[in-house]
Amino acid sequence: MELGERSYKITIGCGLLRRASDFFRLERAALVVTDDNIPQIYAESVASCAKRREIYKIPEGEGSKSIDTLSALLGKMAEMKLTRSDCVIAVGGGVVGDLTGLAASLYMRGIDFYNVPTSLLAMVDSSIGGKTAINHAGIKNIVGAFYQPRGVLIDTDVLATLPERHIAAGLCEAIKMAATSDEELFRYIEGADTAQILSSTEDMIARALNIKKRVVEQDERESGLRKILNFGHTLGHGIEASSGEGVLYHGECVALGMLPMCSPKARERLISTLKRHRLPTEYHGDIAAAIALTMHDKKANAGGIDIITVDCIGKCDIRTVSADEFAGICLGYYGK
Ligand SMILES: NC(=O)c1ccc[n+]([C@@H]2O[C@H](COP(=O)([O-])OP(=O)(O)OC[C@H]3O[C@@H](n4cnc5c(N)ncnc54)[C@H](O)[C@@H]3O)[C@@H](O)[C@H]2O)c1
Repeated sequence: MELGERSYKITIGCGLLRRASDFFRLERAALVVTDDNIPQIYAESVASCAKRREIYKIPEGEGSKSIDTLSALLGKMAEMKLTRSDCVIAVGGGVVGDLTGLAASLYMRGIDFYNVPTSLLAMVDSSIGGKTAINHAGIKNIVGAFYQPRGVLIDTDVLATLPERHIAAGLCEAIKMAATSDEELFRYIEGADTAQILSSTEDMIARALNIKKRVVEQDERESGLRKILNFGHTLGHGIEASSGEGVLYHGECVALGMLPMCSPKARERLISTLKRHRLPTEYHGDIAAAIALTMHDKKANAGGIDIITVDCIGKCDIRTVSADEFAGICLGYYGK
């Protein structure tokens, strides 16, 4: 990732966890953060490379992107007496990465942060780009910071233990990027089954990350272009919040959020691709409640709601619509 003094290296491969010190500066104290559902061996392998280390486990799930867990993590960093020259390392999915990155940005006004994504979603998307956040007052990602990691290490071996449904949810973020920006990648995911993709995940991850990298390098703080990475997320966040924690995964909500934002032709390809990878294409929950929650989302501002639309796979537009227009688009697709 080329961002001037905030540039960093993203390494993808197999068997990398035990070699973390080849990629990160670990001749210092490191707090390795993981969740209590991820095989502990991953955090232990990374931690074993650091000079002084501890492992801190947060409870699994979206609920850990909270003020309470953030506070407990900052407390652990203080208890470990980390200084500004030490570091924290996230070994986990998007939840661990978002929380740990935010804690790193706050502790002593910022200490080094490394990301070792273990879910496919974190590998193809959340581990790069520097968005960190927790949820608060019922609003997703409302408290956060732009804080880039110092390095990202992607070891695809860890996907062996990731449940199938989470593989699909992660793949959805790659489908999202391909739909807005890379027809060739979309065609590949459209034409392959999940097992085929998993047999050459490194390539797929690199292609998805390259899209995100190019976007972030041009618009790190989302003043324009970076909004395209939110394709499907505006309604998706509303669906995620209204359907209750853990019922639908983040990637599944993004799948549902993308569908109303496409032309009929693009939607046809998207639906068949989502179905092929066992992602949802129908929503049976309360769409009006999801829309209402979207209005509270941070992307809904006084000037309207920014939406990303795809008329032709591989290309997209950013549009600002009124709250009524947004509701009309969503209700028009999912029905009243
Ligand atoms: N910062 C960003 O740019 C960005 C982008 C997209 C999504 N996100 C955020 O990411 C989060 C979703 O991330 P996620 O889907 O990774 O969720 P997650 O972190 O909850 O991980 C999903 C599940 O997989 C388990 N898991 C992770 N790796 C595993 C492994 N190798 N083996 C076995 N189990 C494993 C976790 O314990 C968890 O149960 C959301 O909060 C979303 O807002 C952030």
